[in-house]
Amino acid sequence: MKRFLLRCLHCGKEYDPSEVEYTCPHCGDRMGTLEIVYDPDYLKKTIKKEHYEEFSPKGIWQFEELLPIRENGWRPPLLVGNTPLYDSTNLAGKLGVGKIFIKDDGRNPTASFKDRASAVAVAKAVEKGYDTLFCASTGNAASSLSGLCAASGLESYIFVPASAPTAKLTQLQVYGANVIPIDGSYDEAFDISMKIGLKENWYCRNSAINPYLLEGKKTGALEMAVQLNWKLPDFVFVSVGDGTVLSSFYKGFMDLKEAKLIDKMPTVVGVQAEGADAVIRAYEKGEPFEPEDISAFSVADSISVGKPRDFLKACLYTKRNNGLFVRVSDEEILDSIIELAKTTGVFAEPAGATAFAGFKKLHRKGLFTDSTRVAIVITGNGLKDLKAPLKILKSLKKVPANLDRVREAIKNDS
Ligand SMILES: Cc1ncc(COP(=O)(O)O)c(C=O)c1O
Ligand SMILES: [Zn+2]
Repeated sequence: MKRFLLRCLHCGKEYDPSEVEYTCPHCGDRMGTLEIVYDPDYLKKTIKKEHYEEFSPKGIWQFEELLPIRENGWRPPLLVGNTPLYDSTNLAGKLGVGKIFIKDDGRNPTASFKDRASAVAVAKAVEKGYDTLFCASTGNAASSLSGLCAASGLESYIFVPASAPTAKLTQLQVYGANVIPIDGSYDEAFDISMKIGLKENWYCRNSAINPYLLEGKKTGALEMAVQLNWKLPDFVFVSVGDGTVLSSFYKGFMDLKEAKLIDKMPTVVGVQAEGADAVIRAYEKGEPFEPEDISAFSVADSISVGKPRDFLKACLYTKRNNGLFVRVSDEEILDSIIELAKTTGVFAEPAGATAFAGFKKLHRKGLFTDSTRVAIVITGNGLKDLKAPLKILKSLKKVPANLDRVREAIKNDS
């Protein structure tokens, strides 16, 4: 076997990387998602704990031997990954949980977890000879792709809902992307992007379609393992839209297990907003997993997905690894933004705080003890969407520039 091959999750057919670009030709775009399968002997022989460091100047590229990209190829010059994993003693003490680790992926160059996938997309596009990439996105994959393309001198075409938060839309323009703000949902933008992007022969950075991207995202799991000195937490919380980020955590841990670097998988918990719970609906219907599309709405715009494109992988990996799902309300998400920021100093956008809201929900159900170790993945920075927390914050009242009035205001406020 070569270093890796691609396998269809639906029919099981295996392909050499030269045979397929995106999805299984027999099973189509939605059901025929491919996974990258590494040669188990290669993994066991090559992948060694001592190759990796807690903070590498290479960022995600320190894991190159666990990525399906050509050695010595183009790597975008932005530092992706290397995000901190905070041991939040404050929060753990307050909630009576053994350990709570906060993985702050809002610290990536374009301020979201999506940079991990975009970096691999750009590396792969250059390897394959493309000079233009496209994606449909709720906003973060878009800003991420446009940033990494800008750094690499590549062109990007971005299909986003026009309703995406201003910060995300502004990022696109600042990075010089060709922006197509669709007056419709993310699900509509996705379908349009596929029709135009493939016809134009641009490289596709839609995670559910392009099997290489999940491999970039899985570096979040690899990094977490290294940062915890290979002693993984009992639970890892991740928010879910299309389902790729969730699957990427499973995949990272599964690859480490196959390589014999860890012996036990954490319980990965996928958290969805109540109004955008299509992956959970499909999972709850049971096998064989079928799409359960809905019309989605959530304050967490990044995960407001009604037609999740990567639902099959998310459901199969969750089933295979005895994972969990949990739904949270928009109210819980908004409250979580504030509580997380106040107790840890990490300001998350709504979809990032969704993972924390899921953790809080299971905490209320009494799932954790004072020896449980939990990690919560914060996938996007709070500055991406300031309107969301403002929905529940008290509005600030101006104080006249007068010493007595300021003293009075401080006293009334405390
Ligand atoms: C901040 C943030 N969190 C979570 C997700 C969910 O990722 P996925 O769509 O792969 O489930 C996204 C996707 O856009 C995101 O931007
Ligand atoms: Zn197939």
